[in-house]
Amino acid sequence: MKNFLTSTTLFLIISFSCIAQQKENRQEDIFIKNLLSRMTLDEKLGQMNQTHFNTTVDSMCMKVRKGQIGSLLNIDPKQINRIQRAAVKESRLGIPLIIGRDVIHGYKTIFPIPLGQAASFNPRVPENGARVAATESREQGIVWTFAPMLDISRDARWGRIAESLGEDPYLASIMGAAMVRGFQGNKLSDNNSMAACLKHFVGYGAAEGGRDYNSTNIPIHLMRNVYLPPFQKAIEAGAATLMTSFNDNDGIPSSGNDFLLRTVLRDEWKFDGFVVSDWESMSEMIEHGYAKDKKDVARISLKAGMDMEMTSETYLKNIKELIKEGSVSVKDVDNAVLNILRIKYRLGLFENPYVDEKVVSTIYSPEHLRKARQAAVESAVLLKNANNILPLKSTAKIAIIGPMANAAHDQLGTWSFDGDKNKTITPLKALQTEYSTVNYVYEPGLTYSRDKSLNFYKAIKAVESADVAVVFVGEESILSGEAHSLSNINLIGQQSELIKAIKSTGKPVVMVVIAGRPLTIERDLPYVDAVLYNFHPGTMGGLAIMDLLFGKENPSGKLPVTFVREVGQIPMYYNHNNTGRPAQDWIPAMDNIPQEAPQTSLGNTSFYLDSGKNPLFPFGYGLSYSKFEYSDLQLSATEIPQNGSLIAKAVIKNTSKVDGSEVVQLYIRDLVGSIARPVKELKGFQKIFLKAGESKTVEFNLNAIDLAFYGRDLIKKVEPGDFEIWISKNSDEGLKGRFVVR
Ligand code: BGC
Repeated sequence: MKNFLTSTTLFLIISFSCIAQQKENRQEDIFIKNLLSRMTLDEKLGQMNQTHFNTTVDSMCMKVRKGQIGSLLNIDPKQINRIQRAAVKESRLGIPLIIGRDVIHGYKTIFPIPLGQAASFNPRVPENGARVAATESREQGIVWTFAPMLDISRDARWGRIAESLGEDPYLASIMGAAMVRGFQGNKLSDNNSMAACLKHFVGYGAAEGGRDYNSTNIPIHLMRNVYLPPFQKAIEAGAATLMTSFNDNDGIPSSGNDFLLRTVLRDEWKFDGFVVSDWESMSEMIEHGYAKDKKDVARISLKAGMDMEMTSETYLKNIKELIKEGSVSVKDVDNAVLNILRIKYRLGLFENPYVDEKVVSTIYSPEHLRKARQAAVESAVLLKNANNILPLKSTAKIAIIGPMANAAHDQLGTWSFDGDKNKTITPLKALQTEYSTVNYVYEPGLTYSRDKSLNFYKAIKAVESADVAVVFVGEESILSGEAHSLSNINLIGQQSELIKAIKSTGKPVVMVVIAGRPLTIERDLPYVDAVLYNFHPGTMGGLAIMDLLFGKENPSGKLPVTFVREVGQIPMYYNHNNTGRPAQDWIPAMDNIPQEAPQTSLGNTSFYLDSGKNPLFPFGYGLSYSKFEYSDLQLSATEIPQNGSLIAKAVIKNTSKVDGSEVVQLYIRDLVGSIARPVKELKGFQKIFLKAGESKTVEFNLNAIDLAFYGRDLIKKVEPGDFEIWISKNSDEGLKGRFVVR
């Protein structure tokens, strides 16, 4: 009876909420269509125009009053109410502006860069981060962020890898959807929610040579199976808007790609939010050689399904003429405007357009700072820990060396326009405050990451006076992010030399990296005993790092991207195809090859003579102060139908004396397909906490449908056949089983 009541109640709740939703949708539809019916063509084009704040408030207000602007970006939050008033009270129809800003990994309280958040393998980290960002932004009147960036990124030269969620479509899907939930909250109109914007649609991360804005050449199967899925998942999570990318893929710039914007996004995925271009990405179709002039640009983009134009104003200035000529229709315009009005309506802007100037601010609240610290803890990855040099003993005297030990600005990372460096807790500041009982000496040796001076005398003396050296190296924030690509990703400046000099003292050396990308650190490893890798960790990074170094916290991050040994190995990623000639276990060391060795004596397989076949660290790799042992892989079935499922489980034991968290990963390989399939694909992960000595059985439910992919016929389905399956601690090892899909 009780069960019956519970399920009846549940049924009623679901039915009522469906009815309520339908009613709300009807109201929304009536409202926006009614509004549209009262708009002039000029006002419609105004809604499709996004301007950046590049003039005086007065002249901006004039344009707004005339209905020439639908959205503003980069506006000083203090001016928002004044300009919004011009839109709501002084324009003919009173349509509010939608105010956007790049709140990428925090507004004021800065969280680790997205690549770092991905390393947490804990969806609560990006969800919390986005929630904090939305809460701090919305109270200032910023209702729309240009995040999350879902570009799959397999090239560390590309500066925007910093902003990505890594190389894997499954991880990026889970973390991206979590960010959308975090930004958008329960309801877009809540006073702590903001609209998310999925970017950059699509393929931007595959820029040839890792050079930003470069063309991409992603074939359709790869597009469908790797680059598109994170966007689809984020749309299923309810994302309100989406931004097109700068690149041309196979010759077609995204801002004019009707296949992507109409067939995929609207017809297949049923997206009902609006699409915005990237900054001048529409008018840049002229430079691409895809449009003749600005009028041509406006025609191509409108036809392709672009709703709002960021900054280049080709819509505003050309669509009227295009309509007169008959090359586009008023209906095309109406569709775009309805999409925009729908999101303004959902954001509650028609009812509540203004910032509450009396609101009690949550900016830098203790709760936000606590979450940022926890995120930074979970985002750090321990890559080496010889002789358990870490955690450090609290009684040891520590020499703090290196340019990143007190880099308050750089620690925040790219896209932290609003973060205040005076609020940053650097590692040094952490020692001066919460960790003030630690006995330390500080001699940076280099003042910033590109510093080329070679005078390490004082740093060496400091290390000689201490028990252990902690060297903070990495990258300034300006070296990663948009337009900041590199062709050499070694530690920059004289940082490697500094490490060597410190090592020559004979003291143990801990290298703490703070960077925007996976750097090539192989050459530095022999000189250090431990490596703790932090992707620019944000406002609370210094405290998080000290928590980890002193063992108050235990590292639990795992790599969201492959770390290559040499830049020339790029692209190298774990989910590659096998090729017809995969490298064998034996690979000759280049120096051992005899002179005049016969041409085929090295074996004709796929590897580099000078850097082999393996990366430095594989995707999913990361150590802990605990030791985890995996055993007893069991599958609930070894044969499943195409609509079936199986449970894969294994026992994970913490065999150490330290409590800790482990990211348990599930991979599969589809052995034969209508197109060649990757050697491994991540299909699940769980971050579990195990007390010292504790064991847990971790279970993954794998549905056959999760194995579906776009095969030869470009229809997404499960192809029957043999599969391998692993439960593992990273993408390179693990307990292996097999099953068949019939
Ligand atoms: C970037 C976008 C960003 C936009 C607005 C562009 O240059 O590619 O990611 O959201 O500027 O600032």
